[in-house]
Amino acid sequence: MSDKTAHLQIKGQGPIELPLHQGTLGPDVLDIAGLGKHNLFTYDPGFVSTASCQSAITYIDGEKGVLLHRGYPIEQLAAHSDYLETCYLLLCGNLPNAQQKTEFEQRIKNHTMVHEQMISFYRGFRADAHPMAILCGVVGALSAFYHDSLDISNAEHRDIAAYRLIAKMPTLAAMSYKYSIGQPFMYPVNKLSYAENFLHMMFGTPCDEVSVNPVITKAMDSILLLHADHEQNASTSTVRLTGSSGANPFACIAAGIAALWGPSHGGANEAVISMLQEIGDESRINEFIKRAKDKNDPFRLMGFGHRVYKNFDPRAKVMKEAADAVLRELGMENNPLLPIAKKLETIALEDSYFIEKKLYPNVDFYSGIILQALNIPTSMFTVIFAVGRTVGWISHWHEMISHPYRIGRPRQLYVGEMQRDYVPIEQR
Ligand code: CMC
Repeated sequence: MSDKTAHLQIKGQGPIELPLHQGTLGPDVLDIAGLGKHNLFTYDPGFVSTASCQSAITYIDGEKGVLLHRGYPIEQLAAHSDYLETCYLLLCGNLPNAQQKTEFEQRIKNHTMVHEQMISFYRGFRADAHPMAILCGVVGALSAFYHDSLDISNAEHRDIAAYRLIAKMPTLAAMSYKYSIGQPFMYPVNKLSYAENFLHMMFGTPCDEVSVNPVITKAMDSILLLHADHEQNASTSTVRLTGSSGANPFACIAAGIAALWGPSHGGANEAVISMLQEIGDESRINEFIKRAKDKNDPFRLMGFGHRVYKNFDPRAKVMKEAADAVLRELGMENNPLLPIAKKLETIALEDSYFIEKKLYPNVDFYSGIILQALNIPTSMFTVIFAVGRTVGWISHWHEMISHPYRIGRPRQLYVGEMQRDYVPIEQR
């Protein structure tokens, strides 16, 4: 915070003094909270220029392509950390020492199983249900099972809810997949690492023990880590807004999952693969680029553009390297979608429309390619984003609930009818 102020001059009125806050990084933030007492509101559809909260978790500089979690650059975390260590960092504020890391991992492992009765919920879904539809439902349903972690005013309850959500998401996600293909659910095996366990529950069967390739495990861990948090995006803001009413953490995360599902947000990784398949051949790329630039065509190049990044998404850079390594290791350089993706990327990076609008490939452009190489079905892509992002959602919820907060209640610019009198039906 700083003692700088700005003055708002409205014709015919005295100036209104507005405090200017300074964060540890980033531009100054004009505090407009007091405008209401002057009977004024601000108007900012899509929250393009509005900070909805204070947060000490993640920092993004979209112009420079910088992403820091608790101050640590994403590139360093991707190179040296792992998903669970990054979860600890996001939740607790600092990197753990060796003992704290072991204890945290153990605590997560204690919660990997889900209540056996949850299986009945799965059975209620149609077999062809999208796994994201199932996930929205079953995560919300956790609040019907874990009554001992619902008291949001109790710090211990909040912690247990956080551990439960991080631990149970891979189990619930893999169960959604198993249900959709008609295979038996697999129980978690706690001697495995977080990513290994998820792959075991996805691809193992009671008849066959799968031994997971370490390259695939590492790639899955990186995908989870790179999606772990991204400050006040649509789903995280949804979690905060839901939580601000005092809703329980499981209900808040279910709301976040619903917000993530849209193709402008987490659903983009699935949409990238559908788009590459629809393009089908390098010779058709120009046609799709033309469509993306056409104002009268709703088509957008999926995996390109970002509200905050006006430069290369730093997660995309790491993901691109990981994609190259995975495809090399698995001998899948012949994947037919790869040349289309590479050519699309080159053309978009050289095209004046994309350059002028600063539309760079985002994390979802490459994550879809790796997930496809890992044999993950397309319908599970956004589910995996949700598994990775759970720690971000719960860290933001935790941060909000642990400090004084108010219910989130945006105002509006009303453009409807003036007051009018009710007309009896026979006179209409
Ligand atoms: N293809 C073609 N044109 C685009 C694209 C695109 N992918 N993205 C933005 N534009 C144009 C848009 O039409 C607009 O043009 P104009 O100024 O002439 O009206 C301009 O660029 C600015 O776009 P915007 O819609 O105002 O930007 P936004 O910040 O509201 O939307 C976005 C950001 C990510 C929703 C959008 O870029 C998009 O739809 N991208 C494709 C979907 C996608 O890849 N989403 C994943 C985002 S990264 C993962 C995550 O955080 O979930």
